Amino acid sequence: MSNAAPLPAAATTPRVVRTVAELKAAIRGRLEEDAVPGAVRRLALVPTMGALHDGHARLVRAAVAENDVVVVTVFVNELQFNDREDFLRYPRTLEADVDLLAGAGADLVFAPEADEVYPDGPPLVKLDSGRLGEKFEGEARPGHFDGMLAVVSKLLHYGQPPLSTAVPVAYRAYFGQKDAQQLAIIRRMVADLNYDVEIRPVPIVRSPEGLALSSRNRFLSAEEAEAALVLSRALFLLKRRADANEPLHMEDAEAMVASQSLVQLDYFEVVDPRTLEPLAFNCSETPFTGEALALIAARVGPVRLIDNMPLG
Ligand code: PAJ
Repeated sequence: MSNAAPLPAAATTPRVVRTVAELKAAIRGRLEEDAVPGAVRRLALVPTMGALHDGHARLVRAAVAENDVVVVTVFVNELQFNDREDFLRYPRTLEADVDLLAGAGADLVFAPEADEVYPDGPPLVKLDSGRLGEKFEGEARPGHFDGMLAVVSKLLHYGQPPLSTAVPVAYRAYFGQKDAQQLAIIRRMVADLNYDVEIRPVPIVRSPEGLALSSRNRFLSAEEAEAALVLSRALFLLKRRADANEPLHMEDAEAMVASQSLVQLDYFEVVDPRTLEPLAFNCSETPFTGEALALIAARVGPVRLIDNMPLG
């Protein structure tokens, strides 16, 4: 027997498919390959718009750790951009994305063209995110969440295990808590429309200084990136107070943000994590109890940044 340390497993490049038919055939192949009779195969879907960073990698790693087959989708969905300029300048970096996904252990990458996803143009029959989609990001970006649901609903269908396979399959989809309102709306769609998928949330990945990672951070100057740290600092202040069961005193956190002239605050609120409605209890002046979500959004230089913090 050799005493040599085992070599690290080489990252295998995931297979990239472009059409729904190829994706479905590839999922079926992977599920049936190495299946043990009677054992449940676990299939994961990780939807993204590409321009992948460590935040996305964390989602994929969580999916790889908990599943047998992991599909990552990379599609810049025009329907969820209310600003065409923003859509056009959204970074498209498929080659680098595939490298990152190889490192994270994904099995399949679905990277369709718009014609594949919307062959008849924008859908006539639409999903409506209702009250959950009207506030916060929905107010700043009208139509954003309905456009997001249009594509997520399709992606969840594309990844659905084939009915014709004899292999029993558990199907999960992974979303980041970074987009807390998006996550709440997707959970509600899955419940309201009885999607046969388990939604798995993944915590926010931050830079060592605390900035929530985002594909848009690359548009910040060094000075703006430094100024943007005030968002997470204000959220962590609330978290420390919530953890200590102290009153939140939002005005202190708001003053922190206001002191940063490069940051133009859009909203900063503490809400119920499921309904995104104002809390039934007063946590600003009375000791914090229960469960809440602090949501913040601000414009810093050329970009709009969002962040949030679960409290309690
Ligand atoms: P995208 O912005 O590419 O994000 C893909 C997933 O990565 C989302 O679930 C998002 O919450 C998660 N994510 C992004 N940054 C993160 C971070 N710093 N920490 C943890 N998770 C993070 O969200 C979308 O794409 C789209 O709306 C999509 C769901 C793909 C539909 O088009």
